[in-house]
Amino acid sequence: MKTILITGGAGFIGSHVVRLFVNKYPEYKIVNLDKLTYAGNLANLKDVEDKPNYEFVKGDIVDSEFIQKLFAEKQFDGVIHLAAESHVDRSISNPTEFVFTNVIGTVNLLNAAKTIWKDHFEGKKFYHISTDEVYGSLGEEGMFTEETRYDPHSPYSASKASSDHFVRAYLDTFGVPTVISNCSNNYGSYQFPEKLIPLFIHNIKNNKPLPVYGKGENVRDWLWVVDHARAIDVIFHQGKVGETYNIGGFNEWTNIALIKLMCRKMDEKLGRPAGESEKLITYVKDRAGHDLRYAIDATKIKRELGWEPSLQFEEGIEKTIDWYLENEEWLENVISGDYQKYYEQQYVKR
Ligand code: NAD
Ligand code: TYD
Repeated sequence: MKTILITGGAGFIGSHVVRLFVNKYPEYKIVNLDKLTYAGNLANLKDVEDKPNYEFVKGDIVDSEFIQKLFAEKQFDGVIHLAAESHVDRSISNPTEFVFTNVIGTVNLLNAAKTIWKDHFEGKKFYHISTDEVYGSLGEEGMFTEETRYDPHSPYSASKASSDHFVRAYLDTFGVPTVISNCSNNYGSYQFPEKLIPLFIHNIKNNKPLPVYGKGENVRDWLWVVDHARAIDVIFHQGKVGETYNIGGFNEWTNIALIKLMCRKMDEKLGRPAGESEKLITYVKDRAGHDLRYAIDATKIKRELGWEPSLQFEEGIEKTIDWYLENEEWLENVISGDYQKYYEQQYVKR
């Protein structure tokens, strides 16, 4: 039986990865290590929490002693590292927190893998989940490939770029078998409603203003989170050590076009007159250092590993809106912060 560490498994993408691995690989023991910051929510994993091959460990990747002990105790065969501070706006208000978790936390995990695996790296893998934001911003033309030069602009993307460099350095210097993927913007269920799509679904439903940064002309390349989790499965099992894989949906939208699409769909679903929700659009001051355009060229992962997105965006956004409308309790608990109190008590009781 293999023991796999997934960090950040109580977050948005991590919870989809944990769910996929726990259900698909009963022969693996999946250990989910998460600090349960504001973004971590064990309610995201209610459907797998009682499975025999799943274990939750509450802990902080910044605590190096704790991480060394955990690796010594569990003897992980593989690591899928997602734990991070992930929101650009928060990185602008508090950059230092991003250095602690994203850079030092990643180095602590690399140190533990290096110590525990020593020179017995055969069959082991340290898989670091990163973002397309490390490549910076595109003009109107072109796409990010795996060869694009790093050019991060926000404290978030700078911290992720730094962690990517450490991951490569630990392969080159110590032989730790690492692999990295850089993915575009994800959307889907269980995303914390500070990010564009769940925030705007919540605001449209509650007739609150929709704060569009700048002119809404920035472009993002959206991928359904379940397709990202599928790509992570493929790369963890078939990806070559030392390689980088870009993951994306070939699905570019200006923010304003995406927001108008969501408004139209929500008008239909909520039985509002056409054009009603668009009236909530409010243009606000632009985000500092706001990257204009991200677009991923995901041909390498298709060519080498056979992965491609399974869901078209029109269907995915429809499913996503329906999920947030049907899971009102989840959304309200997250917005009020009640989920944190509830799970703190649950965790202590066990
Ligand atoms: P998220 O903010 O929803 O979840 C992050 C998780 O990490 C939370 O459960 C949180 O509790 C945990 N965490 C934070 N600090 C920790 C610490 N010090 N120790 C242990 N756990 C800690 O993030 P997400 O959107 O699911 O992103 C997951 C990963 O994927 C991140 O590394 C992010 O950079 C990357 N990524 C995200 C996107 C996206 O669109 N969301 C796109 C590409 C890559
Ligand atoms: P976000 O979901 O924060 O992801 P990222 O910054 O990592 O791409 O934002 C997506 C886009 O939406 C980005 O261009 C910023 C913009 N945005 C708004 O216009 N208003 C908002 O309230 C938010 C949260 C984002």
